[in-house]
Amino acid sequence: MTAIKAVEVSHLTKKFGHQTVVNDISFDVQPGEVFGLLGPNGAGKTTTLRMMTTLLKADTGQVKIFGHDTIKEGRLARSMFGLTGQYASVDADISARENLMIFSRLNGLSRQAAKQRTAELLAEFSLEHAADDPLKNFSGGMRRRLDLAVSLITRPALIFLDEPTTGLDPRTRTQMWETIRQLVRQGSTVLLTTQYLDEADALADRLAVIDHGKLVKVGTPAELKQQVGGTKLVFTVSERAQVATAVRVLAPQVTTAVQQIGQQLQISLNQLSQLAPILAAINQAKIEISQLSVQEPSLDDVFMTLTVGKN
Ligand SMILES: Nc1ncnc2c1ncn2[C@@H]1O[C@H](COP(=O)(O)OP(=O)(O)OP(=O)(O)O)[C@@H](O)[C@H]1O
Ligand SMILES: [Mg+2]
Repeated sequence: MTAIKAVEVSHLTKKFGHQTVVNDISFDVQPGEVFGLLGPNGAGKTTTLRMMTTLLKADTGQVKIFGHDTIKEGRLARSMFGLTGQYASVDADISARENLMIFSRLNGLSRQAAKQRTAELLAEFSLEHAADDPLKNFSGGMRRRLDLAVSLITRPALIFLDEPTTGLDPRTRTQMWETIRQLVRQGSTVLLTTQYLDEADALADRLAVIDHGKLVKVGTPAELKQQVGGTKLVFTVSERAQVATAVRVLAPQVTTAVQQIGQQLQISLNQLSQLAPILAAINQAKIEISQLSVQEPSLDDVFMTLTVGKN
């Protein structure tokens, strides 16, 4: 028997007018996995998510949630996931507690059960101190945490998050990442969308890269970055006369050729452990260097490599 997938997306397509914004997308998400949909503005991430969560009807294609077809078994499929949208669905004029109560009641909880779940979620998301303030006074990070709390009222096994950290400051962003990791530790499956490679890298077990509505590639973050050349060591040789010596000295330390642009040298690193011997060799040859940096491939690099000639 094959294990049931948390999500199975087959050949999803959506057109708005003449524009095909989701174009024959298929992928699977395993239970317990964090799966990322990575793509730039307008790639079709939200549209894909809206079709998966039955907010939008697909032109063609099929979505199954834990084996249940979202069209034929819509009610059952919907009962298995929570959704946190890109734009807040909560009411800003009332408090966090009131919002959680209302959504709990809408989800069919009794008054008593709603009260208890609201208290649990306020505690879990560190919102107790501001529970009775109107949301107008909340920071962006607090709003996002409340959004997420609302989508967890029914303890869904699967959670969809649309750009959970866009617009948050770095510290709040890191907190949100920790919250998401905790959900996964508690056994949830998470499908999130993001425009950021570092976020996908930090959270996702596997990624689907989408661009112009097409699925470009599915793989682990490591596989993706490997494909775009992985991590690079970049530095400048201070003396022009020493550049050739530097290239010669480094040759035995590297697996791909040292790239030279003027006095700048670039080396692809397979592992960070290569760094120490490289720097030792430079030091030993008494070569002076400056502007040393270790660079991760950016989202731009990924898209440049993966989408060339495909549009
Ligand atoms: N209801 C709609 N009617 C017409 N066009 C739409 C509609 N919704 C989305 N689109 C278009 O579909 C394309 C994909 O939009 P979508 O919101 O799915 O992108 P996204 O990947 O979520 O982008 P972002 O990172 O900006 O949120 C865009 O060109 C958008 O303008
Ligand atoms: Mg979007």
